[in-house]
Amino acid sequence: MINKIENLLEEISSYKVNSLQELESFRLKFLSKKGHITELFEEFRGISADLKREVGQKLNELKQKAQDRYNSLKLELETRDDSAGENDLTRPAFPYPSGSRHPISLVRREIIDIFSRIGFTVSEGPEIEDDNHVFTKLNFAPEHPARDMQDTFYIFRNSAEDSDPDDILLRTHTSSVQVRVMENQKPPIRTISPGRVFRNEAISARAHCIFHQIEGLYIDENVSFADLKQTLLFFARELYGKETQIRLRPSYFPFTEPSAEMDVSCAICGGKGCNVCKYTGWLEVLGCGMVHPNVLEACGIDSKKYTGFAFGMGIERAAMLKYQVNDLRLYFENDLRFLDQFKTAF
Ligand code: PHE
Repeated sequence: MINKIENLLEEISSYKVNSLQELESFRLKFLSKKGHITELFEEFRGISADLKREVGQKLNELKQKAQDRYNSLKLELETRDDSAGENDLTRPAFPYPSGSRHPISLVRREIIDIFSRIGFTVSEGPEIEDDNHVFTKLNFAPEHPARDMQDTFYIFRNSAEDSDPDDILLRTHTSSVQVRVMENQKPPIRTISPGRVFRNEAISARAHCIFHQIEGLYIDENVSFADLKQTLLFFARELYGKETQIRLRPSYFPFTEPSAEMDVSCAICGGKGCNVCKYTGWLEVLGCGMVHPNVLEACGIDSKKYTGFAFGMGIERAAMLKYQVNDLRLYFENDLRFLDQFKTAF
């Protein structure tokens, strides 16, 4: 019996495998319930008592060696470097997890795309602004209560009581970019301004102190409210689907007259009424209007010759409707379980 054990020991230590199948044959041959070692243990029961000690020790040694050999062959197979020979192009790639675009980036890009198809350029401007560009030139009177509409984060104020055109603040809307465009370009102007804006609001499912806007501006001779309406209808159908309806409700902004708020028919229930549209069939998506003559004049544009329209929307809100996200905070938490869902969005 000692001989048999010695032979097996030798066989095991010089055993080579080249594949998982061969490794499995090794296991079956030596280690399985029907393998050689089990067989030897059965034979061991019948040997004479004086040999038991010596043979028992050898047998245990063999069992251990076989197990060790199995483990090392397995490790060798798993970590084998195939690059030395020919590359096996059929081998699966390492599973590198790919990232995804943030839903806000996706929707921003889509909105920019839609407007660029009808001739709008993209303009950007500073996030840290002065009162002049965010309020004064947009026809907010110094004491105008509308300044309270957008709770402003001030960085520097000249006076605690009054606002001053030189006050430094975080922009509350990207209309400030449009002021800068009007100051620097002559009509016709056709541009949109995407960017981050800041408002001192309590953070909740529906409000955040940082969010993103896209505002649009079109100035030329004879631009009318009908042009605004048609542009917005085109936009709504491109973004939310061909069946989308829009409706304009009268509203107020200091920088537009007349002003309106635009609703789109709820894409989720098709206008029939659901909990997203609060059973009205409509969702509010943007503010708009004809640029106030005071704004044109403040930016050096002749309001007798030119007219224009402007509109502005929150990207988070547009994305919420598009992807049916019901909590704004998800956009800022960087939770991979949320972000991973946009992997296939392009
Ligand atoms: N600036 C407005 C806001 O932030 C949106 C708007 C833009 C409304 C242009 C009318 C015209 O709420």
